[in-house]
This record gives sequence, structure tokens and C-alpha cells, in this order.
Amino acid sequence: MRRPPAPARLLDAALDRLVVPGYSRLGPALRHRWWPADPPAGALAGKRVLVTGATSGIGEAMVDGFLALGAAVHVLGRNGDKTQALVARLRAEHAGADVEAEVCDIGDLDAVRTWAAGFTGRVGALHGLVHNAGALPAERSETAQGHETTLAVHVLGPHLMTSLLADTLVDDASSVVWMSSGGMYGARLRDDDLEFRTGEYSGVRAYARTKRMQVVLAARWADRLAGRRVRVESTHPGWVDTAGVTSSLPGFGKAVGPLLRTAAEGADTTVWLVATRPPSTGEHFWHDRAQRPSTLGWERGQDPAAVTRFLDQVAAATGTPA
Ligand SMILES: NC(=O)c1ccc[n+]([C@@H]2O[C@H](COP(=O)([O-])OP(=O)(O)OC[C@H]3O[C@@H](n4cnc5c(N)ncnc54)[C@H](OP(=O)(O)O)[C@@H]3O)[C@@H](O)[C@H]2O)c1
Repeated sequence: MRRPPAPARLLDAALDRLVVPGYSRLGPALRHRWWPADPPAGALAGKRVLVTGATSGIGEAMVDGFLALGAAVHVLGRNGDKTQALVARLRAEHAGADVEAEVCDIGDLDAVRTWAAGFTGRVGALHGLVHNAGALPAERSETAQGHETTLAVHVLGPHLMTSLLADTLVDDASSVVWMSSGGMYGARLRDDDLEFRTGEYSGVRAYARTKRMQVVLAARWADRLAGRRVRVESTHPGWVDTAGVTSSLPGFGKAVGPLLRTAAEGADTTVWLVATRPPSTGEHFWHDRAQRPSTLGWERGQDPAAVTRFLDQVAAATGTPA
């Protein structure tokens, strides 16, 4: 991958650290001048990609991006009618598209097990697995298994799904991408209260904590699958104009409104990661087609003992190997 010239690298880093210009629509508007090339036409022909949270916003835009590059796409939603309506639209708009509906509530671990058993029975090889489903609830709620909702949807469900689909990932050809959020910079890894049982619940804090957990978990999956040369990355999309933002953060959506990115701009880096499989290091965290630090400059990195305690709890909650 060609390295951008030094002035571009400096400007790029400044956009990132100043947050507002980098996360807004100005980010891609400027960075596309020096960021790595688009994937070639047909880059994903003969490849199969699964996108969760595909029925809205960034996930839906990703699906369009993957189909445009020739992939067969499995669109996963929790609502059967909405997911089927999306498939009908995609088949009408992308002539000859190979697109399948998958229905599963990611936060329900039993549903993930049942769905994954069916999927692995039908699909032999998966080249892209994108954990995009996300939620920011106003109140604390629990899933069927008694887990706090953001923990289940952002962390436990995707972890279990990755574990159950691992054998379908193709050595030296597949990528797993976790859609985190820039909001995770405001949260450290909590290994003492994953379920947010103590203190006053805040959906925004639960969201930030579990988005941090996604980055930590993705990096450990990257280590685990490195021997098979399956790439695992996490990313954040910037601030994107989606139903999720207008319904969960209406004040923010209004304040930043004209600066929000389009859903396609929010989806860009994920599509690019799966289509190009660039090499990555460290915490494997990306934004606008470049690796970014996963902690702010003045913070220490993750405490390895806290990471181990966190991983042990995720393994115990999902019944997966430590
Ligand atoms: N928009 C932003 O500015 C922004 C910024 C940072 C990170 N993100 C992240 O980007 C991802 C997509 O967000 P978005 O803005 O596109 O939001 P969105 O429009 O609300 O889309 C969220 C998607 O997740 C699905 N989903 C939620 N809970 C689910 C569950 N239990 N099982 C299966 N699917 C579930 C939703 O399904 P339904 O259609 O059925 O509701 C929807 O398809 C999220 O992970 C979000 O955290 C977004």
C-alpha cells in the first residue's frame, strides 16, 4: 500500500485528533485525495459476505457497496419483513444480484446459535463477516439470556457468531470487521461490570463501553486467526446521517446535521477493508482507510490483565473456549 506524502499524513492526523473536521463529512472529502485506491471493479466476484444490521443506515449502504463489487451478500436483520423488503429492493436495483435474507436477533444468544447452525449447513465459505448491528437504548434492558442489551448486541452476539462461523472463514482470503464508534475513545475497558449493573445507567455510556470492548475483542480475534491469515479489524465510520443517529441522539443529529456524512461515506472503509485486505498491526483499528490509534495519546494502552479478565467473562457468557 502506497504511503501518502508527509504533509498529507500530518493533515490526516490533525483531522483525526481535532475530531470535528475528521469525523464529519469533511474527513472523506479531504482524505480521498491521498487515501489508498478504490478496490478494482469486480474485486469481490466469487466472494461471499455477511453483513449484520443490514436493514438500515450504514449496513444497508455497505450491502450496496459489496454488491457493486460483485460479492454474493447475506443481509442479516432481526425483522423478517424488513429484511425481505430489503432483499427485494436489492434484487430489483442490482441486476442478477446474489443476495440472501438472514433473520436473527444478534442480542439473543440462543437465536444466534440456531441461526448459525442453519447458516453453516447452507454456506461452505464466507469471505467477509461484518459485525455492524448496533443500538443505543435510552433505558437499561436485558435480553432473553439476561444480558444488558448493548453488551449482547455489540459484544456477546458478534463474539459467539464469529466463533460459530470461524470454520467457514477462508484461510488467507477472509476478513472480519467490527463496526465500533469514535465514542469508544471516551471509555476505558471495563472488566469489573460488563453488564452495567452498578451506577446510574446511561445508554450513551453503555454504548461507548461496549464499543471499546469491540475494539479490544477484534484485536484478540486478529491474534487468534493470524495463523490462518484471516484478517480481523475494527473501524469507526465518523458521524453519519442515519435513522440510528436521529432516533437515539436527536440533539446531536440536529447540532451536527449539515456536517454528517452520507451512509455510503460511513460504509466506505468497511467495504474497502473486506475488498482489499490491507495488512494491519497493533489494535487493528481503522477510520477513513487508515489505521488509527485505539487510545488517546496521553492514555496508557490496555492493561493485559484486564483484557484477560474481560475475555474470560465473554467466553463464560457465550459458552465459547477461553
Ligand atoms: N451513524 C453514526 O454516526 C455512527 C457512528 C459511530 C458508529 N456507528 C455504528 O454503525 C453501526 C450502524 O449504525 P447506523 O447509524 O447505521 O444505525 P441504524 O440506522 O440504527 O442501524 C442499526 C442496524 O442494527 C440493527 N440491529 C439493532 N439491534 C439488532 C439486533 N439485536 N439484532 C440484529 N440487528 C440489530 C438494526 O435493525 P433494525 O433495522 O431492525 O432496527 C439496524 O439494521 C452501529 O454499530 C453503530 O454503533 C454509527
